[in-house]
Amino acid sequence: MMRLLVLLLVLTMNSAVFAANEIVLGAAQAMSGATATFGIETVYGMKMALEKINKTGLLGGRKIKLIVEDTKGEPVDTANAVRKLITIDKVSVIMGEVASSNTLAAAPIAQESKVPLISSASTNEKVTLAGDFISRICFTDDFQGVVLAKFAAEGLKKKVAATIVDNSSDYAKGLDTVFRKKFVELGGTIVKNNDFTYQQKDSDFRTLLNKVKRANPDVIFVPGYYTEVGLILRQAREMGITAPFLGGDGWESPKLFEIAGDKGIQGGYITSHYAADDLDPKVVEFVKEYKKMYKEAPGTMAALGYDVLMVVADAITRAKSSNPVDIKNAINATKGFAGVTGLITLNKDRNAIKSAVVLETVKGGVYKFVSRVNP
Ligand code: PHE
Repeated sequence: MMRLLVLLLVLTMNSAVFAANEIVLGAAQAMSGATATFGIETVYGMKMALEKINKTGLLGGRKIKLIVEDTKGEPVDTANAVRKLITIDKVSVIMGEVASSNTLAAAPIAQESKVPLISSASTNEKVTLAGDFISRICFTDDFQGVVLAKFAAEGLKKKVAATIVDNSSDYAKGLDTVFRKKFVELGGTIVKNNDFTYQQKDSDFRTLLNKVKRANPDVIFVPGYYTEVGLILRQAREMGITAPFLGGDGWESPKLFEIAGDKGIQGGYITSHYAADDLDPKVVEFVKEYKKMYKEAPGTMAALGYDVLMVVADAITRAKSSNPVDIKNAINATKGFAGVTGLITLNKDRNAIKSAVVLETVKGGVYKFVSRVNP
């Protein structure tokens, strides 16, 4: 009896020691809802990175445990997910969200709790303004919007743009403002009464598209997310709108092709963070390994998810600590980290200065590389 007790004690102690030894990280990501592919793909990329890191562990063999909380792609649920990760799971770092409005809802909570929150993909300018615990490994929309405007004016040589904007998204509104300003600076014009707005979860865009058609633009910018954008593209082509469509990274989902259909998808261009057909050896290797693991090609989200976990692991190694404040300092000092999505250096505002790619949406579910634009 005594022996059994001792054995039990040793066993429980061991697992307690092991658990304490783990470094617990949180991911606040959409596993369901209208932007679910963003979160699901991001977590795929994270799990691939995790598998690599946990072969040896960090700080002398400590394993990383990743806790994923579903944000449902909604700001309120993202805030709740982040609160839970901080107070219940006591994570050292939070990675998330993708959609800027969701990250914006969570950032003040992480800042106040002094737990670093690093986004892989939220590009709205305001995201990192919540304070020094908030950072990102992607470029911002001040850059993305300029790349898009230049592509419209100089690449496609278009003169008259209309913009259709998701009014419920900070990302869409911000990107629209930057695009319009730069397009006009480059000599373009925006159609008169350009107030074509919609809300997330809208599904019938025909009245709106009729107004756009009457305005007769030669290029149409839609800085939204794939679910609504897919429907807009499909309905626009059905209504005989032939102008090319432009979008930002929010289009990027395999679902876009399904929703828009072959006709809807043709003649579309977007900016994004990475191209799966890039010939850079680091990308080639990543795509190969990812395909082996998941039997599909990694999209931008997967690449960013992979990179964000690698950046966090690198910061933990440099900090020699799993303490959130130490990790925050190390994250903010990230310089020249060689990621799959490019070299990652955080500036003093904790935003990454990186190149963007322009991709063409081609039928058959392919994003084709067009060009790379450096900051
Ligand atoms: N940049 C978008 C946002 O801030 C999110 C996004 C990034 C979506 C990359 C798709 C690909 O809301």
